[in-house]
Amino acid sequence: MKLYLSLPLFASLASAIWPIPVQYEHGDGVLFISEHVSFNWGAGAGNVGFTDQHENTYIFRANSDEISHVQDQQGGYRKRASSDEYGNASEAPTGDDMVDYAVYSAHRTIFKRGFVPWKFHPRDWEEPDPDEATYITEVKLELLQEDPEDIAKPLAGAVEESYALTLTKDGQATISANSSVGIIRGLTTFTQLFFQHSKEGAYTTLAPVKIFDAPKFQHRGVNLDVSRNYFSVKDIKRTIDALAYNKMNRFHLHVTDSQSWPLEIPSLPELSEKGAYRPDLVYSADDFRDLQHFAAIHGVEMITEIDMPGHTSSIYLSHPDLIAAYNVQPNWNTYAAEPPSGTLKLNSSAVSDFLETLLDDLLPRIYPFSSYFHTGGDEVNKNAYTLDDTVQSNDTAVLQPLMQKFIDRNHDQVRAMGLTPIVWEEMLLEWNLTLGDDVIVQSWQSDEAVAQIVEKGHKALVGNYQYWYLDCGKGQWLNFDPSIAASNWPFNDYCAPYHNWRAMYSYDPLSGVPDDKQHLVLGGEAHMWAEQTDPVNVDRMIWPRAAAAAEVLWSGAKDENGQNRSQIEAAPRLSEMRERLVARGVGADAIQMSYCTMNGTQCALGLS
Ligand SMILES: *[C@@H]1O[C@H](CO)[C@@H](O)[C@H](O)[C@H]1NC(C)=O
Ligand SMILES: *[C@@H]1O[C@H](CO)[C@@H](O)[C@H](O)[C@H]1NC(C)=O
Ligand SMILES: *[C@@H]1O[C@H](CO)[C@@H](O)[C@H](O)[C@H]1NC(C)=O
Ligand SMILES: *[C@@H]1O[C@H](CO)[C@@H](O)[C@H](O)[C@H]1NC(C)=O
Ligand SMILES: *[C@@H]1O[C@H](CO)[C@@H](O)[C@H](O)[C@H]1NC(C)=O
Ligand SMILES: *[C@@H]1O[C@H](CO)[C@@H](O)[C@H](O)[C@H]1NC(C)=O
Ligand SMILES: *[C@@H]1O[C@H](CO)[C@@H](O)[C@H](O)[C@H]1NC(C)=O
Repeated sequence: MKLYLSLPLFASLASAIWPIPVQYEHGDGVLFISEHVSFNWGAGAGNVGFTDQHENTYIFRANSDEISHVQDQQGGYRKRASSDEYGNASEAPTGDDMVDYAVYSAHRTIFKRGFVPWKFHPRDWEEPDPDEATYITEVKLELLQEDPEDIAKPLAGAVEESYALTLTKDGQATISANSSVGIIRGLTTFTQLFFQHSKEGAYTTLAPVKIFDAPKFQHRGVNLDVSRNYFSVKDIKRTIDALAYNKMNRFHLHVTDSQSWPLEIPSLPELSEKGAYRPDLVYSADDFRDLQHFAAIHGVEMITEIDMPGHTSSIYLSHPDLIAAYNVQPNWNTYAAEPPSGTLKLNSSAVSDFLETLLDDLLPRIYPFSSYFHTGGDEVNKNAYTLDDTVQSNDTAVLQPLMQKFIDRNHDQVRAMGLTPIVWEEMLLEWNLTLGDDVIVQSWQSDEAVAQIVEKGHKALVGNYQYWYLDCGKGQWLNFDPSIAASNWPFNDYCAPYHNWRAMYSYDPLSGVPDDKQHLVLGGEAHMWAEQTDPVNVDRMIWPRAAAAAEVLWSGAKDENGQNRSQIEAAPRLSEMRERLVARGVGADAIQMSYCTMNGTQCALGLS
């Protein structure tokens, strides 16, 4: 067996696995995998006591349209057409539900969503011969410890995601992990060992394989803004499936903003009736539950954000009395970062009552599926409060105590529901608010901001906009009057240029953070703000660039020698991940011509 990283870079085309595991050794032996492969799910050797609850054998029928029939030990085939049918959709999935789904999904990935890897071999490449093959017929899944109770909605670090994977030369596969989520991650890796054969079946060329893997960061996510443009539940699920396939474990839904309020709040139905772009472009309470459950079954925790007090103008459409400085024109930019301007009033008991009702409705529906609630707090424009009849001032000394009360009220209510608040960095660094020790602060403006957050003792999420904003570099979405057009040419946006995958990959979440504070950096998110993204281009806007962030968050920005990770090593693996995403129905962007991936280092620069 050869150590992967000691191989010459080019000898190992199609070496699979994104993000790169902590320890990864493999050979070059061929194994096919039988479509009848059974997955045996149970407690690991020596672990008695919780075995009975976890014994299932999943046997897949060969008949292709019955792939989703799984047999448990009781013998019956359970017909499953979609992820919604795993577990009770009203409740958080159990670890067993998650593994159930992961087995179904792994089988489907290997046999229905595979790809023929011609792009990763020279022109004269020949596929392995299935007639002379050894077949993998069984995969052992071993749970080494009992799952914690809140397996589906952990606080950062509360569920261990490590796994060990071995595949012997003669086709014995074993995945062991300390939690069901670890089993899911291991199954995800397992699928990435296989390629589709152009005639039939699936095979690996990497046997034997020995992997131990564990994430560097506990919080690894994508943030999707579904207010600026509407995305269907299907679009969102496709995004969650893709991020889970990159071993990310958080999906941040920026669900409301000034431009639209697409979230149904049953006790305040007028919010979405009037605030959504159209009455049918709404996430019903059922949709919302469905999304949270879908994420959880993938080992992904959905974190919902209601951004406030700024970014709330869409509330005006149903509750005009609650919003100050609504849609000032034409100089909206004095009062907001984007049109329409508007903010929740800052010294209004009507606003407090409204928020009480809103969160009383929403938080109990989040509680089964998440330990977090994001109360926003970015880009609050002080001038808007000069037009707020309850304040009539933009003086920081006047506003700051009111903002403190505003956030204290919200966070008290979030905590009373048993949830942990998350805020944007401005609440701490610009408004200088006193936040509870439990509050996680999400940074976006700079590495210095991250350093300041952890210096103040708070846990931080990174996502520096100069690296991890996926929207940047498309140019302006504003239109310029002819009188100022020439001086704004060529209409770049504020965060240009476009951050290509290499730029995203070069970002180190720990940059500038002293050693003794690094434990406070929980991880980070890649952000998909949607002013210029809608369902038509969302896949290629997020993928595969967010995969670069996923590898930084799972594997760390530095390699095992403490050096910056190499683009030359990463590129073929990322190109392969892109093919795998496309094969699972995600329209990920192309990042290299086949010529580059067919022959290792032809497209490298600077090799010595
Ligand atoms: C699903 O969960 C809900 C809420 O906990 C419960 O009321 C319902 O009975 C459960 N359904 C099944 C089939 O177990
Ligand atoms: C499981 O936990 C043990 C004990 O903490 C640890 O040594 C091991 O690395 C963990 N992960 C796996 C996959 O066994
Ligand atoms: C906030 O509202 C209260 C009650 O309406 C009022 O007495 C107080 O002066 C207001 N505070 C500011 C800063 O305007
Ligand atoms: C407050 O408003 C005044 C007058 O419009 C303006 O000069 C000042 O810059 C504003 N202060 C802040 C903090 O925005
Ligand atoms: C921030 O608050 C702290 C303590 O409340 C205070 O010492 C400090 O001067 C404040 N800084 C600013 C810029 O308001
Ligand atoms: C490693 O990457 C960082 C950016 O994250 C950069 O500042 C640094 O110069 C790089 N180190 C080397 C040795 O190239
Ligand atoms: C890549 O191309 C070079 C010739 O340019 C050839 O010597 C080498 O064997 C090729 N490598 C692979 C992996 O095909």
